[in-house]
Amino acid sequence: MTSNSNRGVHALGTVTIGGDLVVGRIGFGAMQLTGPKVWGEYPDRDGGIALLKEVVEAGIKFIDTADVYGPHTNEILIHDALHPYPDDLVIATKGGFVRGGPDYKDWDAVGNRVYLRQCVYTSLRRLDLDRIDLYYLHAPTASDAPFEQQVETLAELQQEGLIRHIGLSNLTAAQLRAAQTIVDIAAVTAHYNVGVRIGAELLDAAERVGIPFSPWHPAAIPRDHTAARFKSVLQPIANKYGATVQQIALAWQLHRSHIMLPIPGTTNIAHMAENVAAASVSLTLTEVEAITNLVTDVGSDK
Ligand SMILES: NC(=O)c1ccc[n+]([C@@H]2O[C@H](COP(=O)([O-])OP(=O)(O)OC[C@H]3O[C@@H](n4cnc5c(N)ncnc54)[C@H](OP(=O)(O)O)[C@@H]3O)[C@@H](O)[C@H]2O)c1
Repeated sequence: MTSNSNRGVHALGTVTIGGDLVVGRIGFGAMQLTGPKVWGEYPDRDGGIALLKEVVEAGIKFIDTADVYGPHTNEILIHDALHPYPDDLVIATKGGFVRGGPDYKDWDAVGNRVYLRQCVYTSLRRLDLDRIDLYYLHAPTASDAPFEQQVETLAELQQEGLIRHIGLSNLTAAQLRAAQTIVDIAAVTAHYNVGVRIGAELLDAAERVGIPFSPWHPAAIPRDHTAARFKSVLQPIANKYGATVQQIALAWQLHRSHIMLPIPGTTNIAHMAENVAAASVSLTLTEVEAITNLVTDVGSDK
């Protein structure tokens, strides 16, 4: 199961974004291909380019990035590694989030119309695209423009042909409902994994309307005082399938819902191949429930 096999990519079907972009259910999150604390250039440029080429070679059809990763360096690395892009590769990027410097905690959201328009135009330039397949508003928390106005700006950019499909990141279920009264939302993304269920209500809302939900940090496993409890459930399942606990965490995501589009991130080609192979692990209902029940208080995002 930990072998370098791409046969698993479509083993549990595909996910369709916006009715016309069909991708395998395991994507790739490119954020780690930046400098320390997601700031600056990835130090091993040749290694980063080789990894991105392997991502495509392994059959992955969905890459998640953002203008703020680096900032900018992540989109540029993807361009340098993969342009001209394969026809069936979907690159999702995001805008509306800014860094105040290399301190990871120094960040903010900006959502005014002119800034978001600049974000889209400059991502297009860096990625050398005429249109971005999936463009996410990175966070709904900007204080310089109402959330609805930010969605309207993306709708305007879509009408102008610069965005194919609109996505929203780190929002609540209520915000998804509000946005859908303005324009079609094609996908959402939020923090959700075996130990963190921040996106749980959003997942339910996305399931109801049938749009992809892309969990970020999808294979992360708690390393705090709860680690032993998670390991006690995940490790025996991993042993049974000859898999790693990260593979079981990803397989669980795929079994949780047919709309899941996890985007595991790695700087390691062997790990990337393992993440792809996780799609071929077929868990029992009891195993899925045991992992789901590791977190009982999923809270409310309303
Ligand atoms: N929308 C948002 O606000 C938001 C926020 C955060 C992230 N994201 C997106 O979500 C993506 C995923 O998050 P992430 O990049 O932090 O990655 P992740 O999926 O949370 O995992 C990253 C860590 O797990 C390790 N890892 C990955 N695969 C593994 C495997 N098979 N076995 C063992 N270890 C493994 C990596 O180390 P190695 O490098 O050594 O493999 C790395 O330390 C990001 O790239 C980004 O695109 C979005």
